[in-house]
Formats: sequence, C-alpha cells, structure tokens
Amino acid sequence: MDRRQMEGAIAGVIRSLGASLKNRGLYPATHPLVRSPVEKCHLELAPFFADRSELALTVSDGTLVLEGVPIFQLTSSLELFMARLGAIGLPAVIFERGVSVEDIELFVRFLHETKEQGLPIPEIKSRLARWGVTHIRVTSTEEEEKDDFTLAREIFGNALNVVVRALKDVRNGRIPDGAESDRAVREMSGMVSRNRDAMLALTLIKNFDEYTYNHSVNVSVLSLAVAETLGLPETERIGIGVAGLLHDVGKTQLALDLIRKPGTLTVEEFEEIKKHPEEGFAILGKMTHIQETTRAVVREHHMRFDRTGYPRPEPEYRMNPHSYVIAVADCFDALTTMRSYQKARTPQQALEIMRKLAGKSLDPDLVELMERSLGVYPVGTMVRLSTMEVGVVTGTPGGGKSEPKVAILFDRSGNPLAAPQGVDLKEPDPSSGKPRRMILGTVNPLMHPPVSISGVLQAVSA
Ligand SMILES: [Fe+2]
Ligand SMILES: [Fe+2]
Repeated sequence: MDRRQMEGAIAGVIRSLGASLKNRGLYPATHPLVRSPVEKCHLELAPFFADRSELALTVSDGTLVLEGVPIFQLTSSLELFMARLGAIGLPAVIFERGVSVEDIELFVRFLHETKEQGLPIPEIKSRLARWGVTHIRVTSTEEEEKDDFTLAREIFGNALNVVVRALKDVRNGRIPDGAESDRAVREMSGMVSRNRDAMLALTLIKNFDEYTYNHSVNVSVLSLAVAETLGLPETERIGIGVAGLLHDVGKTQLALDLIRKPGTLTVEEFEEIKKHPEEGFAILGKMTHIQETTRAVVREHHMRFDRTGYPRPEPEYRMNPHSYVIAVADCFDALTTMRSYQKARTPQQALEIMRKLAGKSLDPDLVELMERSLGVYPVGTMVRLSTMEVGVVTGTPGGGKSEPKVAILFDRSGNPLAAPQGVDLKEPDPSSGKPRRMILGTVNPLMHPPVSISGVLQAVSA
C-alpha cells in the first residue's frame, strides 16, 4: 500500500467505527447497523497487517495522525469517532495484528458507554482489559516511556516482518537482505539480555495460520536464550539467532501443500522435506551479512545429536555445536505449538519429552540447560495454588532458581478476576508466618479460556 491508499483505507476504518458508534446510540447493540460496520472495519484493517504488526492512530490537535503524518481526507461522519476519543482522553489507539471483530465491537461499546471525560490512561487500560479487549491498545503519546513488554512486542513484531519478507523474497526468486535479519536478531538478543521473561512470553503466543513465520522467530528467541545461558560471545550469539530465524528458509522451495500437509507423510514426501536444510544452506550462501557458521548450522539443524538425521553426515564430518542449540529450540517450539496433527504441550510436558530425546536427537547437556534456564514452572505455565486460585507464571527470577512470579487469573471458585493480580509467593500468612500461597501443580490450560500471556505480563508489571 502506498501512502495515498493507506490514507484512504484508514478513512474507511474510521468511517466504519464512526458509523457503528453512531448507530449504537440509535439501535440495540445486536442490530445489523451496529454489527455490520464493525465487521467492515475488521475487513478494512486486515490489509495493514500484511507488512506490519500494529497500526497506530493518534489524535493531535483534533487531527488524526497516522504514523506521524496527518490525514485530512476525513469527512464529517468521522468526527463523532474522533470527538469521542478526544473527550474520553485517548490520544492514541493501536490496533494489533490479530484484532478480532469482538475486540472492535467491545472497543466501540467502550467509546459509546464511557461518559467520563479526560480519564487517566491507566484507568482506560484497565477498563479495556476488564472488558476483554485484547488486540487494541491505548497509549498516552507515541513518545511515552515504553515498558519492557511493549518494547519486546515491537521487537518481536519487527523480526516477524523480517522473516515474512525474507521468505516471500525467496519464493519470488529474490535473495533476501541478510542485514535485515542481522539487525532484527541483534534487537532480540538485546531484549533477551534485558528482560528474558518478556521475550520468552511472546514465544508462547502461537499463531496457527502463520506457523512458519512465528516458529522461525520463536526458534530464534529460544536459541538466543540458550546461547546467553551458555555465555557465548556476542558474534556467536547473533550467528545462532540468525540461524534460528532462517533455519527453515529452505522450505520455501517445497510445494506449499506439502509443508501444510497434516498427518503422516509418504516416503516420497518425506524425501522432499529432507531437502530443506541443503536448500537453506544454498540460499544463505547467496545472502550478504551471513556468518559461515550460521550457514552450516542451517544445513545441520536436522542432523541430530546422534548423527542419524538428515542430510546424513559422513563419519568424518564435524558438526557445529551451535546446531544442537537450534535443535533444542526447534523441538521445544514445535512441541508447545498446536498443529493440525497434534495438540500443544505445556512447556513442562515439552521438557519431559525432550528429556527422553536427550542423547538421541538432542544434546543432553543442552536439554538440561534449557530445563534449568526455563525453571520448574516456565513462563506461561498455568498453575493451581494452595489457595485453590489458578494463575499463570509470569516470571522466573534468577533464571528459574527462585520462586516464580505468578499472576492470579481465577479465584478459588474458578471465576475470572477482573484483572490479573500479581502475587508474591514469598508473602507470609500473618497467622502462621508460612507462605500464604504455594504452587500445588500445573493446570491444563485448555480448561480455561485462552490467556494472552503478554497481556497478563503487561497488566501485572504496570
Ligand atoms: Fe527444519
Ligand atoms: Fe523448524
């Protein structure tokens, strides 16, 4: 989309929002005139997320600003929407990739029903969270101090865009720019060092439609975390991260329905799949800014620790130890993701399976290291507490050595809390002096409505 098309499309989005808002005042909420503009708005937003993970709209001096440039194509029907934003005190609204019709509907309802003027931003945020709006964010100004989770999300989103572009380039017969991957990985590496939990939490948000892209970024983040725990020098860490990001780039040379095929593959199909590490090695060889070892690692990522994988190494072939790092990250992410042919394992279950693979396909030392660095209860694990409350692990201080941080989501009767409540597991019970809450065990996350772990993290860290 060029700028003019973008402005036109944004005007469409705002028009739909305004129409729904206006009709909300005239008709019941379920009326088609309220619902259909919301659906239209949802459709109009979709093209923006082809090449970006979020879309920020700012209101400045009564003018709508899109990515720093004012839009003047607006007509009077849009003014109601702008006026509501201004009155409530909302200078910036950010739509995130994955925004649903329900999110938009709830947001319109929020604008319609909120009568107070000039609400403080944290109050607006907590109201939206309470209403269950997940992919529409509000901020005070674009320049506001960003918290780690916002920053992590942006960095993750940027890396995702880089992979999408790289894989599309290869499919279209172009050679992707290796400098972009390098830059994206450097950002992620910095964020892993700064706040590992924030970055790891993002790998737990699985996007089933965009598996290859998300998987690539997840493997990169996970291998960066392992590389950091190993204490590797920066150049090597970046090399591993880039290998993670591009490890499956060779799959672009395979037919799409083969990659997406659910269930077991025929012998011939598997022979095709087996070509992707070599294909990836060839593609990386044509890219600039790619380290030699990164290329080797991409070629070796399915060779397995016991050297029984593919392409099958000759007896004298020396494998790069960094390839084992990618293998554990690859395995962990694949196991914790739901695919058409498998249910998603919890991080704990995944680690248990990986323990069985240690010494076979996986390097036993790295499995142990991963287990240690993710902790007994990795970020994102749903846990039941001794109070019978259910929460989610939001942090693993000391690399998993200390008591995890937990945010309570459901009270003892199973009712969801209005907002996640961060608790300190070390906090003593005044009567006994013993800790008030202890973790009893893990809970099947499928028993509870899907939880946006980064949303929870953001809410409890604010
Ligand atoms: Fe692969
Ligand atoms: Fe993979």
